[in-house]
Amino acid sequence: MVIDVKSKTNDIEYPIIIERDSIKKLNNYFNIDRKVLIITDDGIPRNLVHTISKQISDVYIFTIEQGEASKNFTNYENILEFMVEKKFTRTDCIIAVGGGVVGDLSGFIANSYMRGIDFYNIPTTLLSEVDSSIGGKCAIDFLNIKNNIGCFKFPKAVLIDSNTLETLDARQFNAGLAEVIKMAATFSKDLFNYLKSTKKVDIDYVISEALKLKADVVEKDPFEKDLRKVLNFGHTIGHAIESLNEGALLHGECVAIGMTYMVDSSIKDELLQVLEKYNLPTSCEVDTQKVIDLIKVDKKASSDNVTIVYVSKIGSFEFRKIKIDSIKDYLK
Ligand SMILES: NC(=O)c1ccc[n+]([C@@H]2O[C@H](COP(=O)([O-])OP(=O)(O)OC[C@H]3O[C@@H](n4cnc5c(N)ncnc54)[C@H](O)[C@@H]3O)[C@@H](O)[C@H]2O)c1
Repeated sequence: MVIDVKSKTNDIEYPIIIERDSIKKLNNYFNIDRKVLIITDDGIPRNLVHTISKQISDVYIFTIEQGEASKNFTNYENILEFMVEKKFTRTDCIIAVGGGVVGDLSGFIANSYMRGIDFYNIPTTLLSEVDSSIGGKCAIDFLNIKNNIGCFKFPKAVLIDSNTLETLDARQFNAGLAEVIKMAATFSKDLFNYLKSTKKVDIDYVISEALKLKADVVEKDPFEKDLRKVLNFGHTIGHAIESLNEGALLHGECVAIGMTYMVDSSIKDELLQVLEKYNLPTSCEVDTQKVIDLIKVDKKASSDNVTIVYVSKIGSFEFRKIKIDSIKDYLK
């Protein structure tokens, strides 16, 4: 299946190819007849990286350490330095092979190098396949604040081969499902009910349904001026929890916890039931003041206000512009 992301008003267009074994046929989807830098991390199976790199004649591989802490300025600078040393030009390209960490960092580098070179993404975690690889948001973390330095860099193409998920551990897989639950809770009661009732998740179905929903949102609002803010459901508090936990909880797990504060009491049990079904955490120690202090420096805040996404009925959402300090009412 191919989902074409198109935003006519902003001249944005790229395909998301969802196909098993597609990473073995790179030439069909990417222009690799040039110098290519593969950016990956040391947690991604080497044979997966090799399957991709062996198809490219002029290829370099830069491997960062796995984990959120790698979305930093040191890696940003080291990779740019490597590209200068290897004489990458404006017509060369970057391929990200990894999860959201690799994708976010790679896109930011592709956007910076010589004011922007082509960027392809091969997401290899469920979270990156259903969410982070599309929409063009790229960032690194700075001064322990999530994603506060970055840009929009739209990929030339995204290649999703769900066979890559065979080596992903269950915890990472479930963290990816948290973003699918987020999409379902805000847009699709059908997808939510599927996740609630299915005995075995059909992963290709889930990836394509989640991506269709996200593609629709990012086409309508590529630069997060209004509608796209809905994708932040669970993230306002989730990002603060992620920063405070310093890596103990995965991004998707923090989103799962964050969502539980932003739903009406009438649907809370239903949400908890689905999160628990996929072994996602639904609570953790939360220092209210620290959460508020972090939300004040979050991109989603402006002066004393923050717009939160609230779900009263599964498959729908509302935006609420609230005083940041009143987040404490939601954290009760
Ligand atoms: N840009 C966006 O729109 C957006 C959206 C959501 C999340 N994000 C970002 O994404 C990041 C989280 O991404 P993630 O959950 O993919 O985490 P991740 O990139 O840290 O990957 C998780 C772990 O899985 C390993 N891994 C990756 N692919 C594997 C595979 N096929 N087999 C075995 N192990 C594999 C990695 O080495 C890593 O240890 C966060 O930094 C978050 O801010 C960005």
